[in-house]
Amino acid sequence: MKKKILIVFGTRPEAIKMAPLVKYFEKESEYFDLKVCVTAQHREMLDQVLDLFDITPDYDLNIMKGGQDLYDITSSVLLGMRDVLSDFNPDIVFVHGDTTTTSSTALASFYNQTKVAHVEAGLRTGDIYSPWPEEANRQVTGVLANYHFAPTPTSEKNLLKENKDSRNIIVTGNTVIDALYLALDKIKNSTNLKNKIIQGIEEEIDDSNFSLENSKFILVTGHRRENHGQGFINICKGLKEIALKNPNVSIIYPVHLNPNVQKPVNELLSNVKNIYLIRPMQYESFIYLMDKSYFIITDSGGVQEEAPSLGKPVLVMRDTTERPEALEAGTVKLVGVDSELIIKEAQELLDNSEAYSKMSKAHNPYGDGNACQRIVEFFIP
Ligand code: UD1
Ligand code: UDP
Repeated sequence: MKKKILIVFGTRPEAIKMAPLVKYFEKESEYFDLKVCVTAQHREMLDQVLDLFDITPDYDLNIMKGGQDLYDITSSVLLGMRDVLSDFNPDIVFVHGDTTTTSSTALASFYNQTKVAHVEAGLRTGDIYSPWPEEANRQVTGVLANYHFAPTPTSEKNLLKENKDSRNIIVTGNTVIDALYLALDKIKNSTNLKNKIIQGIEEEIDDSNFSLENSKFILVTGHRRENHGQGFINICKGLKEIALKNPNVSIIYPVHLNPNVQKPVNELLSNVKNIYLIRPMQYESFIYLMDKSYFIITDSGGVQEEAPSLGKPVLVMRDTTERPEALEAGTVKLVGVDSELIIKEAQELLDNSEAYSKMSKAHNPYGDGNACQRIVEFFIP
């Protein structure tokens, strides 16, 4: 009998990290009856990834509403998943990471007494308010999960410390590296695609003084809930100062669609000549931008994992990270949301070539591109 697998995700980063797993399960259809459910906690940013990987969900809860809060997401996912679970009755539900889609789906599956497999398991800061609410989401999911796919030995150790059964912890690498390598390969093998990407980005930037091949630029992303409010005001102050002090360097910032991000960023940065505020980029274009950037300033989890493979220094606008591997290797630095510190560390990377080259070593602490294969093979009899 084929195992009935349900893969559930809702936001952009979960989609990027689960898409290669969907593809891998599809290849093994001899063993698995696979269905995909999206909660659509994100809509446009999720659909960009579904289009790119050509995934048509079997279920779409379509829950996103403007300015949704954590109660909205939790209750809509819980109720929506009740119906999906009763319709498909899967043997195993796969969830990813640490969003509210993740923890609510794990809880809904637990209520249905369905087994849960957690991909990207075991990341911990130990402080449930940092990042908020993600640290609690991943701890809750860890309690409810039956299988833990840990990306690194550090995350495996965290799970063992919590007395999870070692037979059900599998170190796989992070599936984001599978996604990254798929995208890089596609770009490398198609001049047509590469030209399309360059043209798309330059049209979005829409400034004849800027060229992707010749301009030096810093790439920025940011969205963390705990940075909303004063945090984003500080971030924007820092970015503006960096741009004004360095007129020959540009800042490219694809702005997250969360209104709590859009509002301060547009209000504070839209009239700075060498800052380009653009729409969220399709994954392949974003990877291309990362690869062409001088360095990256971000509060994103996924970007911290991708950048080391591309040899790009990262300044992380957070006080803690659950991804210590690149921090320990010295290619990532925590700068919090202190505008002075952001300015100081960015200036150091721009002015001090020795400091820059120390932080630009390519390394792969988060995976080798075969994480999905390891996950799927675990379930093949
Ligand atoms: C969510 C996750 C966060 C993850 C991040 C990745 C939670 C609580 N937060 O945060 O862990 O790191 O996604 O990006 O699970 N919006 C749109 N279109 C979109 C996406 C968002 O308009 O495609 C707007 C909507 O107004 C929405 C708001 O952004 O209500 C917030 O979305 P939400 O998923 O609640 O929070 P994120 O900050 O995106
Ligand atoms: N990303 C993207 N387009 C963008 C910005 C980011 O495709 O305009 C990708 C990025 O490469 C990474 C993921 O989105 O894989 C990170 O998503 P996000 O920062 O929203 O969430 P987090 O990683 O913090 O959970």
